[in-house]
Parts: sequence; C-alpha cells; structure tokens
Amino acid sequence: MVHIADDGRTWLLSGPTSSYALHLTGADELLHLHWGPPITLADAGALAAAPLSGHRPFESPLDGGEEYPVEGGPRFVRPALSVRTDERRGTEWGFEGYDTEGDELRLRFADDGLAISLHYRMRGDVVERWVGVANDGHGRVELLRADAATWTLPDREGWRLSQLHGRWAAESRLATAPLTYGEKTIGSRRGHTGHQHLPWVALDTDATEERGEVYGCALGWSGSWRIAVAQLPDARVQITGGAGYDDSGLLLLAPGESYTSPVFAGLWSDGGFGGASRAWHAYQRAHVIPGAERDRPVLFNSWEATHFDISEEQQAALARRAAEIGVELFVVDDGWFGARTGDRAGLGDWTPNPDRFPHGLKPLADRVRGLGMRFGIWVEPEMVNPDSDLYRAHPDWVQHQPGRKRTEFRNQLVLNLARPDVREYLWERLDALLSSTPVDYVKWDFNRSFTDAGWPGEPYPQRLWTDHVHALYALLDRLRAAYPEVAFESCSGGGGRIDLGIMSRTDQVWTSDNTDPLDRLAIQHGLTQIHPARVMAAWVTDSPNTQLNGRVSSLRFRFVSAMAGVLGVGGDLTRWSAEELAEARRWVELYKEIRPVVQRGELYRLRPPAGGSSAVQYALDGEVVVLAWLQAQSYGEPVPAVRLRGLDPTASYECRETGEVLSGSVLLHHGLRTGLKGDLDATVLRLRRI
Ligand code: DGJ
Repeated sequence: MVHIADDGRTWLLSGPTSSYALHLTGADELLHLHWGPPITLADAGALAAAPLSGHRPFESPLDGGEEYPVEGGPRFVRPALSVRTDERRGTEWGFEGYDTEGDELRLRFADDGLAISLHYRMRGDVVERWVGVANDGHGRVELLRADAATWTLPDREGWRLSQLHGRWAAESRLATAPLTYGEKTIGSRRGHTGHQHLPWVALDTDATEERGEVYGCALGWSGSWRIAVAQLPDARVQITGGAGYDDSGLLLLAPGESYTSPVFAGLWSDGGFGGASRAWHAYQRAHVIPGAERDRPVLFNSWEATHFDISEEQQAALARRAAEIGVELFVVDDGWFGARTGDRAGLGDWTPNPDRFPHGLKPLADRVRGLGMRFGIWVEPEMVNPDSDLYRAHPDWVQHQPGRKRTEFRNQLVLNLARPDVREYLWERLDALLSSTPVDYVKWDFNRSFTDAGWPGEPYPQRLWTDHVHALYALLDRLRAAYPEVAFESCSGGGGRIDLGIMSRTDQVWTSDNTDPLDRLAIQHGLTQIHPARVMAAWVTDSPNTQLNGRVSSLRFRFVSAMAGVLGVGGDLTRWSAEELAEARRWVELYKEIRPVVQRGELYRLRPPAGGSSAVQYALDGEVVVLAWLQAQSYGEPVPAVRLRGLDPTASYECRETGEVLSGSVLLHHGLRTGLKGDLDATVLRLRRI
C-alpha cells in the first residue's frame, strides 16, 4: 500500500507490520525517512520537517541520508549509480515525477538524456527495490555501476552484521560480528552467486532468535554481485547492493537502450532472527518460488551411488529399490550423454550416450514411470569440455581472451551465453531433449566459475557478465513456458547458485555437495535464515559418508537430518540390506506425512547446532513437527527439553510419539523432552492441537 502526501513529495509504503518512508526536498534531494514499525503519513511529514544535520567542513550533509546516492556533487559515500558519457562522468539529476501502479511506486529522474527510475514495492513486510536506467539521449552512456538500492538504518549504537559464508561443501554458515567504521563488502566476482557468500546480510544490535529488531537485505541476482555495508563517520549505516562486483563497467547503453537492475529486497522485523526468517520464507512462498503451494516430491539422485559409471540396467536396478522405499522422483545425474564417462569429456553434447543408452533415455524413463515415479535428468548447459563435439565445432563459443590460455576447471570451459547463437543452440538442444524424453525434472548444474571472461570481436566484452545471467534467466523462462510441468533444480557444485533471482525460476536448490548429516545441520541452520525448507534439498547417502569425511552415522540420524528440508535419497540402494531398506521405507512414509508441515509450515529454529544438541520446529494449522538431533552426550547428562514456540498457550497438544498431552503453556515454558541419548541420535516428534 502506497500513501502519498498532498505535496507529492513524501511517500509511505506500508506492510502488515512495518512501514517505509522517503521524502524529496525542495532541492530535489531524495532522503530516507523511515524503515521500521508502522507510522502514519503525518509521522513521515514530521520526520521530513527535521532539518538535515548541520554542515561541517569536509563532510556532506547528504551522506548517510539519501535513498540512492549517485556519483558526483556533494557526496563522499560509495555511489550506487556511476555513469560516464563521452563528455563527463557522474549524475546531476532532477526530479521528473512519480507514478504508482498497484503496489509499485516509481520515482522518475532525468539528467541530460539519461532517465533514471527508482522502484519500490511492498510484498508483505518485504520492500522490493530496483532501479531502471535508460539512455534517452543521442550519445552513448557507459553504465559503470547501477546498484539496485541503498538501504539506510536508523541511528543505533552497536550494530552487528550477520552473513552466510562458506566454500564448496561448506556453504551457508552463519557468522555474526560487530560492525565497525568503514565498509565491509561481500560478493562474488565469479560470474555466479558463489559458494562463498549468500547474497544476504542481517543487521541488529541486540536481537535474539525470537526477539528484537533485525534488518535484512537480500539480492535477487545469480551472477557476480556486491553488497557493501558501510558505517559512516557519524555512525550511520547504509547497505548498497547490486549486480557486478566492481565499478569497472556493466553495460554500454546506446541511445534507446536501457538497463533494469535486479531486485534488492529489504525486510525489517522485530521478531528476532526467527521472525525475520519466517517473514522471508512467507515472502518467497507467496511471491518468488514458482508453484510454492505444491509440495516437492521425495527424490532419488544417482550421483553418490554411481557417479559417472552408469548404464540403463544399473539405473533401472536403483529405480526398483527407490520405488520400493517410496521415492516419487528418480533423477539420473551426470554421465548419461555424449562421451561423458568421466569429467574430461562430453559436456556440451546433450544426446544420450549410445553405448549406455542405445535407444535413448526413453526406455529408462518409461521403466521409471512404470514403477510409479517421475523421471529427472542432470544437465550443465552453460559448460563445455574441450573434448566434445560442440567445442570441436565451435571453439569460439566459449568465454576467452584473444591469444590467451583458456583456464580449465574440472576440465571444462564456460560457454558465452551472451552470444545469440550459443543461446539458440542451447534452446534447441534442451527443447529436443525435453520433447523426445518424458522428463519431469531437470537438475541444472554449473560447476566452475568465470575466469577468462573475454569476448573477442565484441566492442564492449564485459557486458557478458550481465548478459550471461539474463540469457540463463531467459532460457529457463522459455523452457518453463514450453514445459510447464517440468520442475527445475538449481545446483552449482552444491550451493553455488542460491539467490532470490534463481529461486524465482527454479523449484528447489541443491543445498550442498556435503551430504554428511551432521555438517548439514549447520549448513541448513544458515540457509533457513533466508530460504524456506520448501526449497532446501537434502539427501540421505551412504554410511560411512563417501563424499567427504567417512563419518559413520545411523540411518535414523541421516534421515532426520535430511527430513528438515526436501527429502531425497542418494545412497547406493543396491547395497542396502533388506532391514535398511525396510527402515528407509518407514522414514520416507513418515516424511510424506509431515511434509506439508515441513515444507509449508512456519519454521522455528529452537536450538542451534553449535551447542551439540539442536532442534527445529515446523507448525501449520495446529500440526507441529519437531526434529531434534544430538551430536554427543556427555557425562550421561540428559538432553534438556526443547521449549517450543508459536503455540497457543491455552490449547492442549498431544504428542503422537509419546502419547503425552501437554498444554501450549507448558510446552512453551518448560518444553518437550526429546529422549535423545548417546552419539548422533535424532528424533521426530509430532504434536497435534486437540
Ligand atoms: C556437482 C553436483 O553438486 C553433484 O550433485 C553432481 O551433480 C555433480 N556435479 C555431477 O557432475
């Protein structure tokens, strides 16, 4: 809901529990007024009447107060917008007007042929912001940087910054530290979102999991990006974020051309980190994730079971076992196409390997479907092995610098999706694949970062960083439109491409190549700060863990860990004993029963994994599910009861596992005993409001 003051210079956006306000001064300075609890237009007017802080030599009265600091003029903060023409650099903009369309507010500015629009849209309590820049003039304009937004926090002492950092097989780990003067930047200069940081930050001063103010910002962009959190000399804090890692040039805009930034979303919550997460989850379920109301099926993925060594008979044997334990979707991972018998060859040649699948994939797909499951395949369309028919035919289709070595990672190169011929080739191949085989699910992988991002012959080669992402999005959009029943998974060597941008085009994400059930608890704890369980894929794999660390863990522990998200199975089922298969079947059945609550319910992180025992609660329509884990018991001490959250204190709840009936008040205040003991123990507790 957008409210506008009579003078048309103060705007107030309101969500269910929050407000956001901004004001344009008589000198066309666009100032931030408020982001926090609900206020009225009159309150916003009072805030707008307060004068800018007094002048001091060497300081700008605008710094720290502007909605979108451009480069040039009396400013010293990091500019959100930086442009260069043949004559000059920087922006001196004048206000042109505003308009609203539904929930969206658009403020229009102009500077000598350059049209700049700032966009605001409230989705629940999430404010979506983005910017548009159009060259309406006669000369060319180089867009050096165009951040999506700058967020301004209220004056407080002792800000802390939380981030989700990591690396391959160790993504999404939560780290919190005091913010100090200067600037902290996180981002990716790799061409994809990256395993190193999720594009999310949260700022608080004294919040806990369930109480206190938390400001969060998350970027919807799947290429290189940067979020800069600055504490200015007067202690004010601003957060600026957008596409691209540095300011060396995004695009060259010819007359008539324009750029639209990705969305940089912001959320204020006074419900602590848990409240903030639940608001982010609700926002994504309602506005970002396609078809979020449909629960995700239990899948089997062949990667850890068979790696590159696959055949139709062996996959069919796995499929029979998978069907027996209740799997609903069978996904053949890498190794089914071209000469892909290892990671040295075949990427780019998207036709079934004739030795392995002499009649194509259809016979296997039919067998899988005959077993009552859906059928999925793995692809990595943006890549090519030099040892492939595609590369032999088109060595110029990859990103490369003229006359320089082409850097290989995992023996592969990155295709230049900015080229229309490459885009068209990929569309044709994927279209042929999906139209010739009954495929219900596509796992879309991306297994190396950009290094030699050159484009010989192109006058402005660095545009490929931006164009690649737009091409990827366009390809996914086109495929989704042509095959609306096919679901897509975003994978990048695990969690290397997880952000709100890819989330709006895919149905779930591969959280991490780390399938160790204990490590996963910390990774999942981090990922759920921003993303809901509904997209967080997790597989039960073999014990000892083959992928990473050889850790031995029970099937119980592995299942309960993976049941915290979208359950999958990735072990070599042909080697599981009859008892293990029978137990797996019971866990899959249990998961299907609790799935609506896990995937659609409100998520409460009851106890973080760092302490050795941890628990997560999901609640939906009076149904409550608690998953609890114990790493190692010490001194025979009983594991403390977990206090539940979000219950009605006056209602009674029955625990299905123990038969106990307890009041909401007791469960909230004293908690629920989990009965965990020993090492690597885990449990599922279901409660129902009676
Ligand atoms: C990386 C993915 O994260 C794995 O799950 C698997 O699909 C491999 N790539 C296949 O090459």
